[in-house]
Amino acid sequence: MSRESSARTGPDVTRTFAPTEHFQAQANADASHYEHADRDSEHFWATQAENLVWTQPWDEVLDWSNPPNARWFHGGKLNVAYNCVDRHVESGHGDQVALHWVGEPGDTRDITYAQLKDEVSRAANALSSLGLVAGDRVVIQLPMIPEAVVSMLACARLGLVHSVVFGGFSPAALRARVDDAEARVVITSDGQYRRGAGAPMKANVDEALEGAETVEKVLVVRRVGEPVAMQGGRDLWWDEFVGSQSPEHEPESFDSEHPLFILYTSGTTGKPKGILHTSGGYLTQVAYTHRVVFDLKPDTDVYWCGADIGWITGHSYIVYGPLANRATQVMYEGTPNTPHEGRHFEIIEKYGVTIYYIAPTLIRTFMKWGEHIPQGYNLESVRLLGSVGEPINPEAWMWYHTHIGRGTTPIVDTWWQTETGAIMITPLPGVTATKPGSAQVALPGISVQIVDDHGQQVEAGEGGYLVIDKPWPAMSRGIWGEPERAQEVYWDQFKAQGYYFAGDGAKYDEHGDIWLLGRVDDVMNISGHRISTVEVESALVSHPAVAESAVVGASDPTTGQAIVAFVILRDGNGNDARDQAGVAAVLMAHVAKEIGPIARPKRLLIVPELPKTRSGKIMRRLLRDVAEGRDVGDVATLADTSAMRTIAASMAGAP
Ligand code: PRX
Repeated sequence: MSRESSARTGPDVTRTFAPTEHFQAQANADASHYEHADRDSEHFWATQAENLVWTQPWDEVLDWSNPPNARWFHGGKLNVAYNCVDRHVESGHGDQVALHWVGEPGDTRDITYAQLKDEVSRAANALSSLGLVAGDRVVIQLPMIPEAVVSMLACARLGLVHSVVFGGFSPAALRARVDDAEARVVITSDGQYRRGAGAPMKANVDEALEGAETVEKVLVVRRVGEPVAMQGGRDLWWDEFVGSQSPEHEPESFDSEHPLFILYTSGTTGKPKGILHTSGGYLTQVAYTHRVVFDLKPDTDVYWCGADIGWITGHSYIVYGPLANRATQVMYEGTPNTPHEGRHFEIIEKYGVTIYYIAPTLIRTFMKWGEHIPQGYNLESVRLLGSVGEPINPEAWMWYHTHIGRGTTPIVDTWWQTETGAIMITPLPGVTATKPGSAQVALPGISVQIVDDHGQQVEAGEGGYLVIDKPWPAMSRGIWGEPERAQEVYWDQFKAQGYYFAGDGAKYDEHGDIWLLGRVDDVMNISGHRISTVEVESALVSHPAVAESAVVGASDPTTGQAIVAFVILRDGNGNDARDQAGVAAVLMAHVAKEIGPIARPKRLLIVPELPKTRSGKIMRRLLRDVAEGRDVGDVATLADTSAMRTIAASMAGAP
């Protein structure tokens, strides 16, 4: 069921699904896109950029004179929010629904492009009345409500740099992001719905902001009616403050390379990196990919991306790509099983969703719940399915194809990252015969390779490193506040070749299609969310009972990977076997509190030793073998060979 088992039996590289004639005939992309891009990729990207409204044309498509620092559409000016909202109203589509928003408790709102323009303008007027000027940072921690989209677009409209923080992150995680970005304003809500009940949000923000020096104002959206303590002089209610602003706002143009947002993501160190994205190139690529990969027809499609706005997928494929393309989309606030396991299908049926984009972990969850659930709804409107965030195993692909796609709709398995900003590897519906489990080919205009340690392209069937060997418009412009670090993190491994190394392993099959094999670094992928082993280890050792810890991502049939932690306690803490379950529970809760519930280990094992090399490095690979139930094999390089035997023996009884 997992990647490992499909690797053992060997995935079927010959099973393909050609697009139907009907789909092919109406598709937005055809093979000429590849030909155009191969002939002249800069011209190709310039053609895509021309679909946006620029107030000043660019002088140069790409300036790559100082790699890895790219400048795309240099000299050009545009307003990102104008491109996502106003221009659609000006072209006569003001009455088209931009968002069919569905709240978790069942309340709904339909927001047209004209209404969105008014809301974004009000929010922009509100933010500028606080004295914010282009380049200032705004942190947004909100549930999946329309105000999240409005806040992001209001920032974009003013040239403010937003940093959206996932609603499930802890006060400490929020504070680290606020401080790193030196945010002047935080936008949040009183609370958020979580599985049918209101949970506090503003209270967490208050805790996070205690003593935070840069934050001047906090805007608070009323969502759940949770009582909140408003701090005089700092806190403002969104409905009163934003609601009383004028809906007129003249957008200013910004340079193509003006920063648009920072989004923090986990790397191989304990400190999340603030990935910086800029305006013109980013918007060009997210709009292009959204149009061709999802085959969007703005007049007839109803698109739904199930991601959260706190992740890059929400930025690129809920906010910027779809809105730039004048999509009508569903935005859903809640979890997929609130109040019942058919919730997503009920929404698809109600709104006639035509394009549906989710993560494999959710597909596997649907599989677990059973196919009788989608069978209870009319899903005939669906004409295209997408997958993102982790490798999709062929079984999940087939289930998605059969039970949601009625055996006919194309599935686009889209590989990309926070750093790439937009989709990079994917089949094109209507062009590519899709292959269950493989993300297949680089998009037109994108160039990738799979290479060995020396940067040489590997043979079919051999595992290697996935690298991107040419700059692309939506590429990250670096790490916020650490201009030198991007070079080291992403470009040093293949410095001689000038390749960007993404952190993923991959291989080609005999047809040249790409199969992603997961991360090769210390980054775990839990339900499509990136968490570094070091981050969780740091959270564990911050607990007074813990002396040392090692964390691994073990393959999990539902979440892709699951966090398994091995912990050595300080003397006298829970070393009594009877206490261990209690101590483990406390430590798991501690991690959830320090980072957020998504980082809570699934299993935590208290061990007397950790396997280390003679130079003292923890051998995570061995721990992964144990966590995944494999024989630990040759442990000759271990400093203490008995450690592994003890750990393996106690794994069976772990909580
Ligand atoms: O390991 C890859 C995996 O997710 C990582 C990027 O995570 P993040 O920056 O959070 O962005 C997730 C949404 C784009 C990648 O390094 N990944 C993402 N999409 C796929 C994938 N792995 C395999 N197949 C995919 N389609």
